Amino acid sequence: MTRRAAAGEATDLNVRPAVQIAGLSKEFRRQDGSTVRAIDDVNLDVEQGEFVVLLGPSGCGKTTLLRTIAGLEQPDRGRIDIGGVTRYSSERNVAQPPEKRGISMIFQSYALWPHMSVFKNVAYPLQSRSRRLSRTQIKERVEGALTQVGIPELSAQYPSQLSGGQQQRVALARALVSQDELILFDEPLSNVDAKVREHLRIELASMQRALGFTAIFVTHDQTEAMELASRIAVVDRGRVAQFGTPHEIYHRPASRYVAKFIGAINEIEGRVIEAEGGRVVVDTPHGRVVSTQPAPGLAVGDEAVALWRPERGHADAIEPDRVNRWRATVETAMFVGSHTEFALRTGDLEARLWSPRAESITAGEQIWVSAEPSDVLVLPREDSTGVQTAEV
Ligand SMILES: Nc1ncnc2c1ncn2[C@@H]1O[C@H](COP(=O)(O)OP(=O)(O)OP(=O)(O)O)[C@@H](O)[C@H]1O
Ligand SMILES: [Mg+2]
Repeated sequence: MTRRAAAGEATDLNVRPAVQIAGLSKEFRRQDGSTVRAIDDVNLDVEQGEFVVLLGPSGCGKTTLLRTIAGLEQPDRGRIDIGGVTRYSSERNVAQPPEKRGISMIFQSYALWPHMSVFKNVAYPLQSRSRRLSRTQIKERVEGALTQVGIPELSAQYPSQLSGGQQQRVALARALVSQDELILFDEPLSNVDAKVREHLRIELASMQRALGFTAIFVTHDQTEAMELASRIAVVDRGRVAQFGTPHEIYHRPASRYVAKFIGAINEIEGRVIEAEGGRVVVDTPHGRVVSTQPAPGLAVGDEAVALWRPERGHADAIEPDRVNRWRATVETAMFVGSHTEFALRTGDLEARLWSPRAESITAGEQIWVSAEPSDVLVLPREDSTGVQTAEV
């Protein structure tokens, strides 16, 4: 494990750890004797200096995955390498204890000691790890870390005298002072209100970029994930459903689960009746839907689902010249400033549409709703019991 030089030189790092997780699994036994696969054959490669977000609903295994990386939880099988060193391997019988892994973990509560000053809180890992540093060295390091996070003047304060943002900085300074190059965050922003949270998020992202540590950050908040992540791992019942940039996850979801978990989406189920050269036609109870964004491998006869995002739809008073179009009734029209959100109904099909124009269309009207083939995704239908919605 390559260690950071002095705290003040942290941005000069040229070697930082990457995390490699291969075939990782962990089962828990419940009180009633049943088992739950908290981590189910996870493979994940995190590059140096990346900000990776683990996103998924409650109970999908995010915390367990983080704890196995930190060494606080023992997996059943698989391998975890950090900074090119194997920290856990079921095959080779390696299981390094947490203190040897060079990782800091920041929890939801920040876990600051209320009876200790900011200085003492930040100095804590240096003392508890018996690093044999002199008082002067500890002072230098702590002051260096507090300067890095921009709060050197708060050294003598107690946690109860700090704002949420300042507490976050203290927690980050405590992680930095240990000179750990990998910092794990378990929903650290979930206790603060929306406005403050947004502010803390921006601060965290910019500090991560400036200081250059690698971050793995757990959340069930999709907006938070989109804003912070260089890559998002969408977790579904212990498995990584997709690992990609926010753009890829949003525009090229690998499965219906991912498409529904991130952002709002409209869907119509049907069967593929044409599939040729990147163009697919799906026959549905609501007419044929044409897509030029089908999932690879879809063939004629496959059960499929056509999906499109509300902001990619069009609302027109007169019949538009688009191949995918439906006559619909406007159930509600909500003007939210930047756009109008329509809830539409055509037969038993409900759809949502967000339009920056179309302010003149009101509830009760009959309109045309349409979508370009290039804005429609077609994915395998999947077992619908495996699909959870964003409201989970
Ligand atoms: N010590 C344990 N014993 C038994 N089951 C456990 C234990 N820890 C976690 N689990 C189970 O493992 C699954 C994953 O839990 P985990 O805490 O990793 O979820 P999570 O994604 O972090 O959820 P949340 O968003 O609610 O924090 C859950 O079904 C949970 O009940
Ligand atoms: Mg959790």
